[in-house]
Amino acid sequence: MFTQIVPMPTESSHHSSTPTSTHTTTPLTAPAVALPIDKELVLKVIPMPADCNANGDIFGGWVMAQVDLAGSVVPARYVSGRMATVAVNQFIFKQAVRVGDILSFFAEITRIGNTSVTVQVEVYAERYHSQKNYVKVTEASLTYVAIDDMGRPRKIEKTQDTM
Ligand SMILES: CC(C)(COP(=O)(O)OP(=O)(O)OC[C@H]1O[C@@H](n2cnc3c(N)ncnc32)[C@H](O)[C@@H]1OP(=O)(O)O)[C@@H](O)C(=O)NCCC(=O)NCCS
Repeated sequence: MFTQIVPMPTESSHHSSTPTSTHTTTPLTAPAVALPIDKELVLKVIPMPADCNANGDIFGGWVMAQVDLAGSVVPARYVSGRMATVAVNQFIFKQAVRVGDILSFFAEITRIGNTSVTVQVEVYAERYHSQKNYVKVTEASLTYVAIDDMGRPRKIEKTQDTM
């Protein structure tokens, strides 16, 4: 009986067949824009090849995770303790993100309720070969809820800042 031996893919052969290159995928056509002056810069991060999807662009779920973290920065100041993301009200991927882009996350509170804080997040990319030119790649609205030790909604204390 003949048994065909098929070599296991190695790390390098796997990589050579996986499109992780940043510069052969969706064309970059968006014009550069000005950064927002009414929002706070809360996070900067550079995506790596491990964050790619099958197209070779950055996986949307990775972007969502970064937006969730970035969105929580300003609410944390009002919540003073545990909080949980209760809703992603809106999420728009306006442009693809690439490996090596420098991503800047800007956030602004749009609503402070009894137990929740809603935030608008905008993400701008400086492309790998075009630093200092900003392209808006994502915008989103998320709501975070202050929670107690039992995970139940907790009232946000009213201060000068939250009224
Ligand atoms: C967050 C959680 C405690 C809220 O409990 P709940 O019983 O839904 O709470 P409530 O209905 O009393 O709503 C609490 C606040 O959330 C807001 N909220 C609830 N559902 C919402 C929705 N779909 N969209 C926007 N806001 C919402 C309410 O308006 C309220 O805000 P306010 O008090 O400022 O007006 C609960 O839903 C939960 O544990 N969810 C899982 C959280 C999680 O695992 N997140 C992912 C990891 S962080």
